[in-house]
Amino acid sequence: MTDNTKVEEFETLLAGIDENAAAPEMEPMRQYYFIKKARKWVKEQKERLGRPLTACTVTFGCQMNARDSEKLIGILEKIGYVITEDEHADFVIYNTCTVRENANTRVYGRLGALNCIKKKNPHMLIGLCGCMMQEPEVVEKLKKSYRFVDLIFGTHNIFKFAELIYTRLISDRMVIDIWKDTTQIVEELPVERKYPFKSGVNIMFGCNNFCSYCIVPYVRGRERSREPRDIIREIEKLVADGVVEVMLLGQNVNSYGKTLDNPVTFAELLRQVEEIKGLERIRFMTSHPKDLSDELIEVMRDSRKICPHFHLPLQSGSSRILRQMNRRYTKERYLELVEKLRASVPDISLTTDIIVGFPGETEEDFQETLDVVKKVRFDSAFTFIYSKRTGTPAAVMENQVPEDVVKDRFDRLLKEVQDISKERCARFEGQTVDVLVEEINDHDPSLVTGRMTSNLLVHFKGTKELIGKIVDVHLDTCKGFYYMGTLVNTEE
Ligand code: 5AD
Ligand code: SF4
Repeated sequence: MTDNTKVEEFETLLAGIDENAAAPEMEPMRQYYFIKKARKWVKEQKERLGRPLTACTVTFGCQMNARDSEKLIGILEKIGYVITEDEHADFVIYNTCTVRENANTRVYGRLGALNCIKKKNPHMLIGLCGCMMQEPEVVEKLKKSYRFVDLIFGTHNIFKFAELIYTRLISDRMVIDIWKDTTQIVEELPVERKYPFKSGVNIMFGCNNFCSYCIVPYVRGRERSREPRDIIREIEKLVADGVVEVMLLGQNVNSYGKTLDNPVTFAELLRQVEEIKGLERIRFMTSHPKDLSDELIEVMRDSRKICPHFHLPLQSGSSRILRQMNRRYTKERYLELVEKLRASVPDISLTTDIIVGFPGETEEDFQETLDVVKKVRFDSAFTFIYSKRTGTPAAVMENQVPEDVVKDRFDRLLKEVQDISKERCARFEGQTVDVLVEEINDHDPSLVTGRMTSNLLVHFKGTKELIGKIVDVHLDTCKGFYYMGTLVNTEE
């Protein structure tokens, strides 16, 4: 069931399930069955306590995790929990990330604080899921030193959330269910979107690239694509439910469709998505330079809906380091791709990810990275200090770079990136552009905040009625990384 499926439709389905019979084998019916059973338990608790039960999900990491959390919330709501942002809830679930070590450290720290809350409310349930749970050492540590955790599952069986909750509710023991990998993709489960007007859409799961520093292929498993018809159907339903912008999500969208029985290219999928009536904006994330095809660039050039923004992770500007990273492109190839993109999609915004301090990185290698940054002039760049991930090839490479050297390079890179970013951001000043209004401004309730196709934010006078609409906004002044603007007209 995707987001917009009518409540009644779902309820009719649920009404037809006999919760006293054995659990169905087939998905998603099996999960509907457990939703019904868990719902009964939650209702009984509610009556006993004389108040609703609350649940809180905390998301760490990337857009994939954000989308997964919407799936968790979809199930929790269907079971009868009231969603809150307060971690003093009856059920708190952390959807974790493990791409860098500090993501893990943060989770352990916050778990300590959660334990204090749980001591005062022993009925509280604590769940952990996501990438970090796919690491055996993590689960061992949790089993040994974090006995107060109730439910642990990984990235491959998130679709089983209802069943896992129910299993925990009827037992008093820590429930752990981690799969090593899967080929299964379960469609039609409940999802609760954070924004009514825009949505992430998974088009593929996992990654086959094995960049030598990266833990993702180990925790997210092998690459598998959803069928184009399932993706299109999901987007059509989203649009019918008020969505105007979608973000197609995958670890490497450029290799979408290669593993399907009837292979389809990512460019072809985009062509099909473009056809969906009522859909206004298409974004996607993340691309790998090695698979960026001319066909994709042509589709972007000819599209009216694909936003002129491309996130193309560079990681390093040194061809030598790129080889060590197993990235399968060179500095020259990357620059060539940038040129092609700029030639076909004028004024395209380019953003990137860069790692500093990969094992063996010399000052000369680092200068190559700076050189690419200066040549490309990214609109923005996420810069990361290399983090050693146990189990990846880079973790056992010699010549790990000393911390002080990495920190110094990181600071120099950040300054360069930010200086360029400010200049790039200002290039739209004085123009009138279309903006999707996302929310009331955090600091000043007389303002709304909207997103330009380039992904920049603009704040301007407006009211909540504008949220979810695409409007014309004059960009008055650039304030570094965002704009202050004026609404030009409110017609759609
Ligand atoms: N250390 C630092 N950064 C990393 N990334 C992935 N793995 C690591 C690591 N071990 C960065 C890459 C990737 C982004 C999502 O995270 O730049 O593109
Ligand atoms: Fe990690 Fe490379 Fe896959 Fe991206 S493409 S998730 S960096 S292995």
